[in-house]
Amino acid sequence: MVQIKDNIFWTGYIDWDLRNFHGYSTPRGSTYNAYLILDEKPTLIDSVKSYGSKEMLSRIKEVIDPSKIEYIISNHTEMDHSGAIDELLHLCPKAKVVCSPKGEEGLRRHFKKDWPFQVVQTGDVLNIGKRDLKFILMPMVHWPDSMATYSEHDKILFPNDAFGQHYASNERFADELDLNVMFKEAEKYYGNIVLPYGAQVLKVLDMIAPLDVEMICPSHGLMWRRKEDIEGMVAYYQKWARHETDEKVMIVYDTMWHSTEIMAQRLLALLKEEGIEVTLINLQDTVISDVITEVVSTKFLLFGSPILNNRMLPTMAGLLMYLKGLKPQKRYAWTFGSYGWSTSGFKEMEEFLKEGGCDILGEGVYLKYIPDESELEELRKVIPLVKDKLEKD
Ligand code: FEO
Repeated sequence: MVQIKDNIFWTGYIDWDLRNFHGYSTPRGSTYNAYLILDEKPTLIDSVKSYGSKEMLSRIKEVIDPSKIEYIISNHTEMDHSGAIDELLHLCPKAKVVCSPKGEEGLRRHFKKDWPFQVVQTGDVLNIGKRDLKFILMPMVHWPDSMATYSEHDKILFPNDAFGQHYASNERFADELDLNVMFKEAEKYYGNIVLPYGAQVLKVLDMIAPLDVEMICPSHGLMWRRKEDIEGMVAYYQKWARHETDEKVMIVYDTMWHSTEIMAQRLLALLKEEGIEVTLINLQDTVISDVITEVVSTKFLLFGSPILNNRMLPTMAGLLMYLKGLKPQKRYAWTFGSYGWSTSGFKEMEEFLKEGGCDILGEGVYLKYIPDESELEELRKVIPLVKDKLEKD
């Protein structure tokens, strides 16, 4: 039994084996957090993936007979949080499903069931006894239906996916683990799930700013309870939502016969020589969700690919297509690579990047077959392009 505050219990599911969350690599697994509040009207906030229902139910049964639950708050329709609601409703016939208007629409589309819905709006209050639970709709953070629940009595915010991380652990609070790792996992989560919705995140941050919050209980990973960690997490969300980046460079490349790799290595050396912070990523060995973690904090993004069948390599196309959907803003991009007889794939790379919201730093460097020393020198042209932006921004 895990009691996180008086009469509030964590009743989630730890997904130790999860390694892929619809394409997002999760080497540390994940959790789906459900929270049971014991009050006059026992209330469950969110549920878990369907295959975690047995574990969730056994945790609930340690605390209460599930048939006594009167409300199931569904902060978000996605099935990692709603997947066990149907099974649960069979055990708690009195329970109403509390959700946003888009939540009702989404849950009906997902489960094709006429559940007893109670639809709420921002500012609505649900009294469950000693507690008034308040709702804050947060559309597109990160689905149209998403909302947060706030318990003023406990000073706890339950913001569902926001402030979460994919991390499986026997600990429940971020401060019980290495905080650098926890913030990095939160950054990866933001980059891969929330990045396109910065404007909406800023609105939500404004709405929660007046609340007295002593604990943030997200729907994935560890909870935040220390004042400095809550402030740190909110400050990171402010920064990420504004697309504020650090003045550093990421070089990401794939290669066929090592020519583009040689170019990437030379770029690394040149930028290092200039004292510019730079990271090198080989796309053959790195999953794209980890590349995106770097994108969250990086202002200059250099992409290298050789040309195959007149196009960029499929690995690079996959990354750029993904990046385009995530719409990073206030970032500069630049392309480079080796080719044999066609350079059209480089234009295509630039088009993807422009469509994704990146500003192109300037003309890239494209070298035929295997570059020689004098040709590699051409890569120096990126240095003034980067420095110019560093001075101006
Ligand atoms: Fe954790 Fe959007 O679901």
